[in-house]
Amino acid sequence: MRILVTGGAGYIGSHTTLELLRQGYEVSIIDNLSNSSSESIKRVEELANKKISFHEFDLCNKKSLEKCFVKEKYDAVIHFAGLKAVGESVEKALYYYRNNLVSTLTLLEVMEKNNVKNLVFSSSATIYGDPETVPIPETAPKQATNPYGQTKLMIEQMLEDIVQTKNDWQTTSLRYFNPVGADSSGKIGEDPNGLPNNLLPFVSQVAVGKLAELKIFGNDYPTNDGTGVRDYIHVSDLAKAHVAAIKKPATKNKYRAINIGTGKGTSVLEIVKAFELASGIKIKYKIVGRRAGDIAECYANPEKAKKLLGWQAIKNINDACADAWKWQSKNPNGYSKIVEHA
Ligand code: NAD
Ligand code: WQD
Repeated sequence: MRILVTGGAGYIGSHTTLELLRQGYEVSIIDNLSNSSSESIKRVEELANKKISFHEFDLCNKKSLEKCFVKEKYDAVIHFAGLKAVGESVEKALYYYRNNLVSTLTLLEVMEKNNVKNLVFSSSATIYGDPETVPIPETAPKQATNPYGQTKLMIEQMLEDIVQTKNDWQTTSLRYFNPVGADSSGKIGEDPNGLPNNLLPFVSQVAVGKLAELKIFGNDYPTNDGTGVRDYIHVSDLAKAHVAAIKKPATKNKYRAINIGTGKGTSVLEIVKAFELASGIKIKYKIVGRRAGDIAECYANPEKAKKLLGWQAIKNINDACADAWKWQSKNPNGYSKIVEHA
């Protein structure tokens, strides 16, 4: 079986490609490398000892996409390609809407034309906004508070609508909580451009000496220790969830959205401790004010994934910190970039 992975050079896409190859699938990747490096693809090939068919172009380019679908036969598509920085999406709303929505529309049109109708999409827990209760079930109210989140909601709506055409579509949205960690080889991992937005890469860069200290955004939340609580899911477990969704596809003409998380909440201070334990390095931090738009607590009810996909998280936060540290310490500049921050 050949799977088309859009955005396969990126953080989650590269780990999922590795897992697909390890489980015997053939993989083609489309990526414009706008937020990644082809070095990740090379390393995945080395780790799996298999070749990947890589096509470098923008998914909004329909002609190039059609050529791929004619040249290669895909059994299913996993759609990671998209821009993902919440803050940037507020500043560059149109750019986010164009990139994320036009690419998806183009993909769906070309899939339909070529009779490839099984799609797994990267959605996000961001669509739950500030949840009324935790753990969050898939039936919780949806609410996007920024253009990035809006694109996820709109794409989920497209996927829900196309199954109504009774045209045998099988669409799955996986709503990821907070993906962290790296393959245990330490050869591939998260390689953010510039200053990291997310907690784990920030902590890793403090540990490796690229950043001076972590700023903890608030310790006055109504949580155990006052810092924000999230559901950190190891990227290798997340990769396995995608393969499970390919193995057990949605029923035809029936849309499904599934949470992918551990079901366990971890605070910022607990992450700092776990990272110190994994790296043996003291993480310097200071408490600052809350970050605009942040919520106190967010973690998944992951029961639906267990029931429909037979999937559950295996790795814990200590595994994630150990693997993130292996990646960061072996690759202090990510795949190639020059250090910019002191
Ligand atoms: P990433 O930026 O590492 O990977 C996305 C990839 O898509 C990149 O390689 C980028 O070059 C490519 N891309 C973007 N626009 C493209 C286009 N128009 N044409 C071709 N390629 C394009 O991000 P990631 O963390 O691996 O996230 C993958 C997906 O998962 C995204 O859709 C993201 O919104 C979603 N997601 C991520 C997180 C997270 O915290 N990392 C959480 C929930 C959901
Ligand atoms: C985690 C916790 C921060 C950085 C974001 C997106 C979401 C999804 C995942 C894509 C929070 C605290 C962080 C720092 C800190 N992405 N923190 N200092 O905000 O849960 O989710 O990534 O879909 O859409 O919004 O993740 O890693 O940024 O923050 O104290 O320098 O760490 O306040 O409590 P978040 P995060």
